[in-house]
Amino acid sequence: MTIPITRGAEPFSPEAIDAQVSSVAADLRSRVSECIANVPLPVDDSSIVIDALSGGKHLRARTLFLIAHSFGTPDLRFATDAAVALELLHTASLIHDDIIDGSRFRRGQPALHCAADEATAILVADLLIAVSFATAATLGAPPAAALAGTFAQLCTGQLLEPTLSWGDDAQSEIEHYATLKTGALFGTAFELGAMAASCDRALQDRLRESGRRLGLAFQLTDDLLDVRDDALNLGKDHGADLRNGIPTLPLWSAYRRLADLGETRSASDPSLRNDLTDEAGSDRTLRDMRKRIDALVEEVRSLRPQAKQPRGLELTVGTVLANLDQFTSANCGFEAP
Ligand code: IPE
Ligand code: IPE
Ligand code: MG
Ligand code: MG
Repeated sequence: MTIPITRGAEPFSPEAIDAQVSSVAADLRSRVSECIANVPLPVDDSSIVIDALSGGKHLRARTLFLIAHSFGTPDLRFATDAAVALELLHTASLIHDDIIDGSRFRRGQPALHCAADEATAILVADLLIAVSFATAATLGAPPAAALAGTFAQLCTGQLLEPTLSWGDDAQSEIEHYATLKTGALFGTAFELGAMAASCDRALQDRLRESGRRLGLAFQLTDDLLDVRDDALNLGKDHGADLRNGIPTLPLWSAYRRLADLGETRSASDPSLRNDLTDEAGSDRTLRDMRKRIDALVEEVRSLRPQAKQPRGLELTVGTVLANLDQFTSANCGFEAP
């Protein structure tokens, strides 16, 4: 049944958003196919690669549409092209990320550097980046600049990764890193949604900042997936962060708790691995993370008075944080919208 979401502005339905995201998915598939049509990919079946590179949940595209409909009446052509540009950039970043992290699976398939080889994966990702910027350029200077800015932040965030520490005052540097590598892209999804809906500059800026907070909450959720045993199989590596010694917020907070209890070994000591895994995957850590995620969501909800369709804002939060629902073992007060 279609439930129209209305308040003053034009109604929109979840089904209409589904259709818009499906059209982004179709567009992505044809651009990815075009992109690699003339590339001699060293794989048996290039259609599997095309499916993987145009697949995924398309959360950033959906976010862009939800925000555009929540804050105005979107120009659907603009929104579709902007969403395609955003998803292409995101996919390229995952191809590079899997090389950096030594991860072997992505979107239910061998990661591209495993299916093909590392040089091919680097260059195919670069091709997607080129197509992303070519797409954004057709939309005008402000969207192209927003996309370039967010990509610079994503790369800067990744570059910070080896500098992160396990010290007791490291939370803000870890959050800063996660905001750059992941939050920025969600911030741009919000901002491009606002542009598609012709919001004024002040609201575009406000939405971008809120999107960054929701994107940080998304990364914390994803970091939980990496450490919890009850995480569903999401088609990618599990336990990669501990393997790589990355102090994500759940791993850092687990290590700080062990240190408070008298643990003196360093976080990278292999003999600490089992204890750290158990503590990071515990319901105590889940509760701490949910508290932080709740606070970030409250910041996003402060936009409500400016939304033409506040229910759309709640749908955005619920969509981006949907993976939290799978952790049923601890009800920590997080209320799904
Ligand atoms: C994974 O993002 C990478 C992170 C930023 C944590 P998604 O979970 O949105 O990946 P896909 O696009 O659905 O594969
Ligand atoms: C996600 O990195 C962010 C970027 C790719 C820039 P992660 O390493 O945390 O994401 P997953 O868990 O591999 O998807
Ligand atoms: Mg990774
Ligand atoms: Mg990574």
